[in-house]
Amino acid sequence: MNTDNSKKIYEKAKKSIPGGVNSPVRAFQSVDKEYPIFIKRGSGSKLYDEDENEYVDMIGSWGPMILGHNYPKVLEAVKRELEKGTSFGLPTKKEVELAELVKSCFPSIEKLRLTTSGTEAAMASVRVARAFTGKNKIIKFEGCYHGHSDSLLVKAGSGLLTFEHQDSNGITEGVVKDTITLPFGDFEKLKETLESEKDIACVIIEPIPANMGLIETEMEYLEKVREIIRKENIVLIFDEVISGFRVSLGGVQKIFGIIPDLTILGKIIGGGYPVGGFGGKKEIMDLISPVGNVYHAGTLSGNPISVAAGIETISILKENPEIYENINKKTENLVNKINELIKKYNVPATVNYFGSLFTIFFAKEKVKTLEDAMNTDSEFYSIYFDTMLENGIIVPPSKYEAHFVSYVHSDEDMEKILTGMEKTFEKIAKKSGTIPKHI
Ligand SMILES: Cc1ncc(COP(=O)(O)O)c(C=O)c1O
Repeated sequence: MNTDNSKKIYEKAKKSIPGGVNSPVRAFQSVDKEYPIFIKRGSGSKLYDEDENEYVDMIGSWGPMILGHNYPKVLEAVKRELEKGTSFGLPTKKEVELAELVKSCFPSIEKLRLTTSGTEAAMASVRVARAFTGKNKIIKFEGCYHGHSDSLLVKAGSGLLTFEHQDSNGITEGVVKDTITLPFGDFEKLKETLESEKDIACVIIEPIPANMGLIETEMEYLEKVREIIRKENIVLIFDEVISGFRVSLGGVQKIFGIIPDLTILGKIIGGGYPVGGFGGKKEIMDLISPVGNVYHAGTLSGNPISVAAGIETISILKENPEIYENINKKTENLVNKINELIKKYNVPATVNYFGSLFTIFFAKEKVKTLEDAMNTDSEFYSIYFDTMLENGIIVPPSKYEAHFVSYVHSDEDMEKILTGMEKTFEKIAKKSGTIPKHI
């Protein structure tokens, strides 16, 4: 495969952009590539690079592209909006429409604020939780990512783990001290911490973590987390930036019937355009200025283009519930077939999935924690990434991310993915000398 144009662009990019990319995972460093591929355009389930190579896209912009790239109705809505102007710094009627639409899907959200990114939404929800409770510290879980604001960057999953760090430099000791990180899934640790530490403002969690690879959370664990927090003056924040409108119209909270106090959203609510949002109980949200004294603002918050794309995307999802059945079924079938191939080639691989998200880990045992994910084989993941790329499929360039199946992935795409997987397993089986005799 010829990727010379990408290589040339990367050489130039490094001179004007740190590492040549605007978000670290895009550098392909953790899958041992010298340079990333540069994308020229996307259409449906496919991406095309600067050398016109075509790839089945399993990244989906890390979640938003549930309907694929440039889904005609979403594109039309955006074009209509573009004609009217792109940013006013003043309110628009469509922001109200989007807020009402989100509320109709997430009963736990009584009021919603839009932001430009998930990072901002998470940062602002922690601030409002602190104001509401009058307390300072926050509890987050190892391997969960909530964007790159200082207090949430401690042991923060994929983006950092990809480069073998757990934390970022440049964060003050005070901020680190106010962030308590606990192992995901360990309820006893949470209970002990809540008993000994009384200055906790909020507990923030990805209900189905997708930033240490996908983790299949047990519902009972989340129920217990909800219950223990209900008894204290602590705000429970579900970060559904990835899972919101992805695993169901009402996110993980709808599937499990567990109601957080605040919810963070992003990605799909902007239909592929820059967006974030946070919302929840009225009494908490009404502390935000101009009603209350918790400051949150943004020149591009509620940007009309993102809002138009979000309204169209959510409306399509709401009016066509079969979309969720389609993507979930497709993912389940794919995962079943991958599992058959894993058995056939006897390779140390295991798949976690939930709805239309999945991660393939190169390990013998099921991955349940960050530690498990860190112990999976990185070299095998790089072989996987490379083999898939050579076969025209782009998968996450990090073992700590999830794959995203969209409504427009075709049977043919699925076959292509399985062929790529089979070739990967063959190579890994040969390399580790475990190739079964019958093959
Ligand atoms: C669960 C979660 N929360 C927050 C964020 C941050 O969102 P953004 O990248 O829009 O700032 C992400 C980004 O991937 C995420 O996965």
